[in-house]
Amino acid sequence: MKFKWTDDLSTGIEQIDRAHIEMFATIDRLAGACKKGKGKEEISETLRFLNSYIAGHFGHEERQMADLGYQSFAMHKSQHDGFVKTVQELQRKLESAGPSSELAIQANIALVDWLVKHIISFDKSLGLFLKSRNK
Ligand SMILES: [Fe+2]
Repeated sequence: MKFKWTDDLSTGIEQIDRAHIEMFATIDRLAGACKKGKGKEEISETLRFLNSYIAGHFGHEERQMADLGYQSFAMHKSQHDGFVKTVQELQRKLESAGPSSELAIQANIALVDWLVKHIISFDKSLGLFLKSRNK
């Protein structure tokens, strides 16, 4: 599984790509920590960062979709909402059972898996749409 952002994940919209690169870097830091057996130490910071970062990033995409009457807005937003729930669920596990290597690895896989699939299936189409609208 790859944890690095690569050009084939580009949406063609710089601001969106920059946010994705930042998210990949965070998940990659967690992956690096997991490899060194230090996932337990990194997981709280990963979730803290993502929790606040995705509010801004998803909000930005959603405002543009709403403003421009994007056809797939509702479906795209429900994907974002699903990811917010995933992060909150991981946060709940962290709070109830404490940090662990298992949780760090589980989080790592869930986060990158969602992000790659979401970019390919949703954000690339949004990028094309925004480009067509010259945004
Ligand atoms: Fe998105």
